Amino acid sequence: LAFGLSSAFAQSSPVLQPAAAPEQGGKLPADFAWGTATAAYQIEGGWNADGRGPSLWDYFSHRYPNNVNGGKNVTYDFKTGLGGGSDYLEHNADEADLSYYYWKNDIDLIKKLGAPSYRFSMSWTRLFPDGHARRAADGKWNVNPKGLKYYDSLVNALIEADITPFVTMVHWDLPMNLHSEYGGWLGYQMQDDFKNYAHFLFEHFGDRVKHWITFNEPWVSCFLGFQINSKAPWRYGPPNNATEDPLSGPSYEIGPTQYTPESKVLPANRPQQPLEALWCSHNLLNAHAKAQQVYRTHFAAQNALVGLTVDGEMSVPWQEPNTTAEQLASNTHYADLANIFRISWYADPLVYGDYPPEIKERVGSDMPVFTEEQKALLKGSVDFLGWNAYTGHWAEQARSANGSYIPPSTTKSYATAQVDIWHDNCRGRDASYNCLPPRIGAQGGSSWLIKYPKAIRVGLNWLWNRYSGNIPHGLYITENGASQPNAKVAAPNDTVTADFWAALGENPADYLYGPDEIESEFNVTSLVDDTFRQKFFADYLEQVRLTVTVDGIPLKGYFAWSLMDNFEWEDGYTTRFGMSYVNFTDPERVRHPKGTFSAVSSWFAANKA
Ligand code: NOJ
Repeated sequence: LAFGLSSAFAQSSPVLQPAAAPEQGGKLPADFAWGTATAAYQIEGGWNADGRGPSLWDYFSHRYPNNVNGGKNVTYDFKTGLGGGSDYLEHNADEADLSYYYWKNDIDLIKKLGAPSYRFSMSWTRLFPDGHARRAADGKWNVNPKGLKYYDSLVNALIEADITPFVTMVHWDLPMNLHSEYGGWLGYQMQDDFKNYAHFLFEHFGDRVKHWITFNEPWVSCFLGFQINSKAPWRYGPPNNATEDPLSGPSYEIGPTQYTPESKVLPANRPQQPLEALWCSHNLLNAHAKAQQVYRTHFAAQNALVGLTVDGEMSVPWQEPNTTAEQLASNTHYADLANIFRISWYADPLVYGDYPPEIKERVGSDMPVFTEEQKALLKGSVDFLGWNAYTGHWAEQARSANGSYIPPSTTKSYATAQVDIWHDNCRGRDASYNCLPPRIGAQGGSSWLIKYPKAIRVGLNWLWNRYSGNIPHGLYITENGASQPNAKVAAPNDTVTADFWAALGENPADYLYGPDEIESEFNVTSLVDDTFRQKFFADYLEQVRLTVTVDGIPLKGYFAWSLMDNFEWEDGYTTRFGMSYVNFTDPERVRHPKGTFSAVSSWFAANKA
C-alpha cells in the first residue's frame, strides 16, 4: 500500500492554485446514476405500527428526550419557523414524514424530480422486530409480514416507475433488542445477527434490488455513539441531563437490563472504555465482510453490487501566505492522516484487508487485530464505495496555545493518536485549541457543516488516489446537501419569509402555537427562502462534473440529501436538509418542493448526456 502526499491537495489548494483558465470538461455520462437519499428512521414514522420493534433511536429518543434538541434549550415553531415558547412536538421520529403511510407521495416526488435512482434504507426492526432473523426448518423466515409488505410495495412501485433502488441495510437504527442483549455493536454476536438479516434481504429482494449499501457512516455510528456521545446509544450517558454524570457511573442502562462491569449479558472479553468505538468499528467491519461472503456464496447469480458508505469531512492542508514549503508539506501529511483516521479506518480493511499502517503505527496495542481469516474475508469486500460528502476542514499539525507546533507523541495509544491526529483540524481546535481564521468556507445550518465545494473534488481524488484499481465498480456520492445557515432561535433555517405572511395577510405571531391550516391552503413553494441551498448544490455539482469529466475519476452516481425535510437526528426538526418543505404539524405531511428541487432537476437535465 504505497501512499504518499496527495497531489490532489496541492492542486486544489486555494493559495497554491494560480488563476487558471476555467476548466471545461463536458457532460456527465448518460448512465450516471443520480437521485435523492433518505433513511428509514428519518422519514417513515409509524414507529410501532404493524409490529415494528424499537430501534436504538426509538428507545433513546423516548427515554432521554432531552438528548434530542430540547436539551439545547432551543425552541421552535414548526409552522412559522420562529423561536419562542416551548416545543410543542416531541423531538423524536415517531411520525416524522409519515412515509410509512405516504410513500406513494415520495415516489411521485421523485418522478417529478426526474431522477433515475433513489437511495433509502430499510428498517431492520420493521422486518425483524427483535433483530434476530431466523429461518425455520421449513425454510421460512420469521419476518414480520406487514413490514415486508411495506418494502415490497415500495420497491415494486419504484421499479414500475423506472427508478433504480439503492438500499441501505442499516442507517443507524440498530434493533434495540440486540443492544439490550449484548451491547449492540460492542458484542461480536452482532456480526452474525447482521449477516442473517443481510441474507434475508438478498434472498427476498435480490431479484429487484441490485445496489446494496450495508452500513451508513460507520465512523458516526461508532465514534459519535460510543465515544463522542452525540448520537444513539449515547454510550456515556445522556449529555443534557445534569443529574447524571455520564462518565462517572459504572452502570449503563441498555433497555430492560443493566449493564455493569459484572454483568453476565455482555461477553466477558467485551471492550472497555475508552476503546469501545474501536471495537464497535471492528465488529461492524467484520459484519460487512460476512454479509458480502453470504452474497458471493449464495447470490452471485443475482448480479448485484454490495458496497458500504463512509462519511468524511475531507481535510485539506492549512496554509497562509507565509507558510513555508516545509510546513505545507507537513500540513499535507497531517491532512492525509486526518482523512486516514476518518475514512481509511473503514475503507482500507474493506479494500486491502487490514487497518491502515498509519493507524496501527500510532494506536499501537490499543488497536483491535483482525485474524487471518477475517482479513481474507474483508479484502476486496466492497464492489463500490459510497461517500457522504458535505464539508471540509483545514488540517495542520497540532499547535499549542502559543502557536508552536506540538511534535507527535511517542506513546503509541489511541488516546495520544487522537490528540495528534483527529483533533488536528480547525474544528477540533474550536473547542480546545486556537482555531486560526479564516474558516475554510461559509457556515451552514448545522454546527459541523461548512460550505467548501472543492472538498468534494479533493475528496474524490483523494479516495481514488488511495484505492484506485481495487474498487471494481467505482465511487458514489451517496449524500451531499445542506441545511440553511440562518440562526436557529431567532430565525431558524428555511423560515418562511416576510412575503409569505404578507401574502396571507397574517401576523406570524398568531400562528406560534395554533393548529395548522396554512400549508393545506397555500402553496409555500416559492416563499421558502432556499437560496443558500440552491447555491450550495450548484457549486458542489460543478465540482462533481469536473471530477468526472476533467479528472476522470470513476464516480458512478450522486444522491442529494434529502428528498424532503426530515428528522435530523440530535437536531430534531430544527435543521432542515430537504429539497421539499414539510410542515411537521400537517397531518398529511404534504411535500412542497423548494427552489432547490427544480434547480437540481434542471442541473441534471442540462449536465447529463
Ligand atoms: C449524513 C447522514 O447519513 C444523514 O442521515 C444525515 O441526515 C445527513 N448526514 C445530514 O446531517
